[in-house]
Amino acid sequence: MGRVAGKVALITGGASGIGRATAELLAEEGATVVLTDLQDVPGEDVAAGIRAAGGKASYFHHDVTDEAAWEKVVGETLSEHGRLDILFNNAGIGGTGVPVDEMSLDYWRQTMSVNLDGVFLGVKHGVRAMTETGGAIISTSSILGMVGAPNTAAYSASKGGVRLLTKAVAMECAARGLNIRVCSVHPGYIDTPMVGGAIQRGGPERREAILKSQPMGQMGEPRDIAEGVLYLASDAAKFVSGSELIIDGGFLAR
Ligand SMILES: NC(=O)c1ccc[n+]([C@@H]2O[C@H](COP(=O)([O-])OP(=O)(O)OC[C@H]3O[C@@H](n4cnc5c(N)ncnc54)[C@H](O)[C@@H]3O)[C@@H](O)[C@H]2O)c1
Repeated sequence: MGRVAGKVALITGGASGIGRATAELLAEEGATVVLTDLQDVPGEDVAAGIRAAGGKASYFHHDVTDEAAWEKVVGETLSEHGRLDILFNNAGIGGTGVPVDEMSLDYWRQTMSVNLDGVFLGVKHGVRAMTETGGAIISTSSILGMVGAPNTAAYSASKGGVRLLTKAVAMECAARGLNIRVCSVHPGYIDTPMVGGAIQRGGPERREAILKSQPMGQMGEPRDIAEGVLYLASDAAKFVSGSELIIDGGFLAR
């Protein structure tokens, strides 16, 4: 028996990086996975790869900033699979390293729209879908939702928002007697296309600086985060809510 056997999981940003690894791991552990993204070709490929490996997965195009799209994706998940047990609010965009006094309001709003509005909409429609059955909602924050770094004002603010949105909704669900657990996961530097893009823009010195900042001397892999999400999504975490799971190779321990 897998650790999430029989559960239905919706994963945003599932075409790449952490979302992809989590979709694959939850499917390996027995969940039926609905993965969504803006990148349709890689998204369909991830779902097809899971099915080829014997798992259950489907892909939907879904912009997390669009409330009507959330209604459609959650509605189709419920009509297709009858329930939603796990929601992983993971889609996000990184920063391009803009100093705050040069940051445009458009850039700020775009970051907030994907990283924070997108998570709010997921939590809203996830709680509605899980009210009767219970479930687990996990949202991807960051080490930068806990500490600051230069030139990350919008990204850090969005990820700090995810952290406290999570705690507020965890308390709300508990107060209403809903069996819905709500947690955040806080990755450190993970080797995904998002970090690859930052390294490409910053050149070899950027890569060197990132590696130097890692207590364990290397970045994490997407699967390292997926394992934490699997735990939070599983019944092994039945007494865990409002918690922040840091998976960062020791970055925040200094
Ligand atoms: N990689 C890291 O070091 C790191 C560290 C901390 C937090 N995170 C967070 O982890 C999450 C996943 O990032 P990743 O590193 O796997 O990056 P990634 O770029 O590989 O994956 C992010 C995915 O989100 C999708 N996405 C972006 N905007 C979207 C939208 N509006 N609607 C739907 N999907 C959208 C992208 O198409 C992409 O497939 C993000 O929330 C990111 O902020 C990453």
